[in-house]
Amino acid sequence: MAQRIFQTIEPKILYFGTPVALISSLNEDGTTNLAPMSSFWALGWTLMLGLLDETKTAENLERHAECVINLPSPEMWKQVEKLAPLTGKNPVPELKKKQFRFEKCKFEEAGFTQLASDCVKPYRVAECPMHLEARVRHIHRMGGEKLQALGGGVAAEVEIVRAHADEAFVKNMHHIDAEKWSPLVYNFRHYFRLADHELGKTFCGSRKPTRGLLPTAHPRPSTRFSLPYLFRVGCLPLLGITVTLRDRHWPAAACGEASKNTKETTMQPRFLAAASGAGDSVFRRD
Ligand SMILES: Cc1cc2nc3c(=O)[nH]c(=O)nc-3n(C[C@H](O)[C@H](O)[C@H](O)COP(=O)(O)O)c2cc1C
Repeated sequence: MAQRIFQTIEPKILYFGTPVALISSLNEDGTTNLAPMSSFWALGWTLMLGLLDETKTAENLERHAECVINLPSPEMWKQVEKLAPLTGKNPVPELKKKQFRFEKCKFEEAGFTQLASDCVKPYRVAECPMHLEARVRHIHRMGGEKLQALGGGVAAEVEIVRAHADEAFVKNMHHIDAEKWSPLVYNFRHYFRLADHELGKTFCGSRKPTRGLLPTAHPRPSTRFSLPYLFRVGCLPLLGITVTLRDRHWPAAACGEASKNTKETTMQPRFLAAASGAGDSVFRRD
């Protein structure tokens, strides 16, 4: 490997490629605020959300301990960007005045539709393929000189009480199909998607990544009419395999009524790696 030459730098931001989420939280009048965020990660079903003090979201979570973590897909980045200069805080905090304006109806402003949640009051974003309904467990104060310069911030520890996923991305009932799903990734303030092909899987050594038995929902044009693809499609009826996720439901223990929505699958994923970058295989080999 060629020797690297390092520079000592003071990066303005440290968003090194984390997924984007849209956080729904409850305003004092019962309406739902919506805000893009990217500083979050998951361990099991507990998530840490990094929020600046000057956000309406942080204020809302302090007052009403519920939220929804909506995960947009990469094609939605322009709608996400419409939310970027908005805040639900009125008046707009001094530190944000140059770049932000107050907006009450953020769903409307970004062209999103409100969808009722099962277990919490804030609405979900119907257009997002994955929703995690959550309750706040603790709000931890964060420190650091550079964070103080941004007005200070908190890490909200939330626990998922229900997960919903578009059935197009669900595999084997409890897994998100990593070949089909890509989060919207925020990489140093630029939007990205994941690459088309996986590099490998944990606990599989150097095994060559496979494409799996089931054909992908939208095979690339080059593979759509290839012999292996047609063989896989042709073999499924012969094997008597019927795949129907519609109307399936796996209720979360912490929650009551079941979702009646047939277009999505309410599930108990074994992991939330798609949202967090953390892997399930640390605990489980499958
Ligand atoms: C893609 C993206 C990611 C962001 N990530 C965060 C974040 O992780 N934490 C945060 O406090 N603000 C983040 N922001 C900034 C907030 O969205 C912004 O402060 C917004 O005004 C918050 O809305 P609110 O005041 O209505 O809660 C992000 C903005 C964008 C566009």
